[in-house]
Amino acid sequence: MNKPRIYLHDVAPRDGFQNEPIFIETDDKIAIIDALSDCGFAKIEATSFTSPKAIPALRDAEEVMHRIKRVPGVEYTVLIPNVRGAERALSCGIDEANLVMSASETHNRANLRMTRDKSLLQLGQIVQALNDSPVKINVSLSTVFGCPMEGDVTQSEVMRLMGLFADMGVNRMTLCDTTGMAYPSQVREICQTAKSEFPDMTLTLHFHNTRGLAQANVLAAIDAGIDRFDASLGGLGGCPFAPGASGNACTEEIVHMLELEGFDTGIDLDQLLAVSARLPDLVQHDIPSQILKAGHRLTRHPAPDYVNDMI
Ligand code: COA
Ligand code: ZN
Repeated sequence: MNKPRIYLHDVAPRDGFQNEPIFIETDDKIAIIDALSDCGFAKIEATSFTSPKAIPALRDAEEVMHRIKRVPGVEYTVLIPNVRGAERALSCGIDEANLVMSASETHNRANLRMTRDKSLLQLGQIVQALNDSPVKINVSLSTVFGCPMEGDVTQSEVMRLMGLFADMGVNRMTLCDTTGMAYPSQVREICQTAKSEFPDMTLTLHFHNTRGLAQANVLAAIDAGIDRFDASLGGLGGCPFAPGASGNACTEEIVHMLELEGFDTGIDLDQLLAVSARLPDLVQHDIPSQILKAGHRLTRHPAPDYVNDMI
């Protein structure tokens, strides 16, 4: 019997690298993206076209996009916050424009320095400009499962915003748990409602592991029929404009779990781990990935000498 397919998008080159205090050299970014391209991802979020003042870590977005290799079957997407970002991205041969705004007003103002109304206007203009182009459009809604400044965001508000984008013709959206506030029963409920209200929308879920619930939330979303997830190599990541934000759902931990649970992720875990193993040197700190530290479930460790010496 065929295993159910789960599509994974690695966002470490954007969500991970944006948050690192040291500048990761452009050549190193490209090398990581190229290595990820061979691992079996459906999509890679390679960078963002944001203001270099807001996100200096990704100020080399054009060069990254021009120099990465493009592997057929992998979609290369970039995060875009405004019209200026869209203009820059379009000169770089992107497959998908990942437009971003927050479900909560306060986080939108903190992160994007504009009201949600202004974001809606700008993103609407971008959607209109791209609707007849081969570039796909995805809208990522931040803080869907809670805002670190406002608290809970109501489900009806999330559905209202999704409806506005659906009316613009957007048919791909990502529901983001920007600061790890989501919990499984909430995830199940929001995913079920979103799927039934927008049956033609391709939905992706984006979790952070801030409170250790990312993997449980992935399973809850799968229960509700979701089959696409963002995740970040090594568990890097976080939003610089959200207090207490920390790493994304870790790609190799999710691949490890989903393969054990009988899903086909299309990803070679050993190959992925070899890429993840390059990260600590690159970012110059330990990374959250438990699988990199502990190995697979059945990784065998040598027994201590005294075990064999006993009689
Ligand atoms: N790319 C490059 N430069 C940009 C830009 C973009 N997408 N958007 C604006 N700028 C430049 C402007 O040209 C202007 O430059 P100047 O100071 O040299 O004249 C400057 O940035 C300020 O422009 P303004 O429109 O006033 O932007 P802002 O300061 O209000 O910031 C955003 C708005 C959206 C550009 C900025 O907040 C941003 O990039 N946020 C991204 C946040 C993010 O990625 N968070 C993590 C992921 S969720
Ligand atoms: Zn994120």
